[in-house]
Amino acid sequence: MNGSLTLDFSDVLLSEHRLFDYEDKIAKAEARLHSGNEKFTGWADLPLTYDRDELKRIKEVAELVRSKCDAFVLIGIGGSYLGPRAAIEMLAPASSSPSIYYAGQNLSGTYHKQLMEELADKEVCLCVISKSGTTTETSVAFALFKDWLYGKYGKEEARRRIVAITDAEKGSLRQEATEEGYETFVVPANIGGRYSVLSAVGLFPIACAGINIDEMLDGARDRAGNNEQEGLYAAARNCLYEDGKKIEVFEYYEPRLHYFAEWLKQLFGESEGKDGKGLFPAALAFSTDLHSMGQFLQEGSQIFFETILNVVSPPDDLLVPESAGTILANKSMNQINHAALSGVMAAHRAAGISMVRIDIPSLCSYTFGQMVYSFEKACALSGYLLGVDPFDQPGVEHYKAEMRKVLEK
Ligand code: PA5
Repeated sequence: MNGSLTLDFSDVLLSEHRLFDYEDKIAKAEARLHSGNEKFTGWADLPLTYDRDELKRIKEVAELVRSKCDAFVLIGIGGSYLGPRAAIEMLAPASSSPSIYYAGQNLSGTYHKQLMEELADKEVCLCVISKSGTTTETSVAFALFKDWLYGKYGKEEARRRIVAITDAEKGSLRQEATEEGYETFVVPANIGGRYSVLSAVGLFPIACAGINIDEMLDGARDRAGNNEQEGLYAAARNCLYEDGKKIEVFEYYEPRLHYFAEWLKQLFGESEGKDGKGLFPAALAFSTDLHSMGQFLQEGSQIFFETILNVVSPPDDLLVPESAGTILANKSMNQINHAALSGVMAAHRAAGISMVRIDIPSLCSYTFGQMVYSFEKACALSGYLLGVDPFDQPGVEHYKAEMRKVLEK
């Protein structure tokens, strides 16, 4: 349809036999993932088995929301926020309506007060997302915005402007949604936050932004059919880690990929960073960060490898005028951006840096679906190869318990 994501390993400095040595382990990891016996692996077959009735309802409710509001506020954090934001920032034109706003992804009073001020004259709908229904950031922001919505529209109408996405049965948000009669969707019990983009968690807000979610699921489904490259990527990541490369730097040249990279940080960070192990996922925006971090990459401690997100055909372009001088004049900005990518790769090749290049054909919903599935799969396989559980996040609970102690004082 819109071209396939391709992973290029020609700049990964590993001998072929090391990757081939992983073949058996990858096959075992793959079988384990699809065995049906592993907790939180519901995402792996989701694009192939998606409930068509739910998909229809997601689209219907999204259309209703779109007809009702010019401001849609997504309240959530972590896996209940980053995936939909990654899609919306990558795919929705800035001018599209409704405008999408985010709340509950931090605890800043300044941010939330200013957001309320900005929304004062707008027609607003809220979508609160929380699997547990108890996350502090989400609960605080939802309480504030719900009160604000009651004040703006009265209780009856405000309730019709709230959609809750949460567990089917558990948690206080589910209870409240039932009591108050909010429209709801379910976070599947067998899918964790960072793997939930292609469930209602992502699909509903993404549809509210006017993005084609059918094509997104098509992309994911097509990718699910063949994961040879994801297996190789997982093997390469593990070999490089064994060789002392403890950081994976995701690099992108299109600003629209900023939140996709944020989601990648969560996906890999929470999935692999445990038991004293794991690659530290970092992200750099090029060419911006070449002027701040380029020096370190070229000549600093060689504790990293790079994964480059290369958009082959970006959605728009500009021709550079004569006044820019002979080298630049009459070239398109995308040409110059691609020259930056080629130049950086040549320089880093000379420095002996390993690089995986991922060619993303274009920024469309079909490709987004492929990207999400591809990285989820690679991450799950990598986690198994590393010997950790890629689907839990016990360490996240610690700070929450400490924060509660402070609040209770
Ligand atoms: O991936 C995860 O599990 C976390 O990032 C959660 O999504 C995040 O903590 C929010 O949790 P909840 O959806 O329960 O509010």
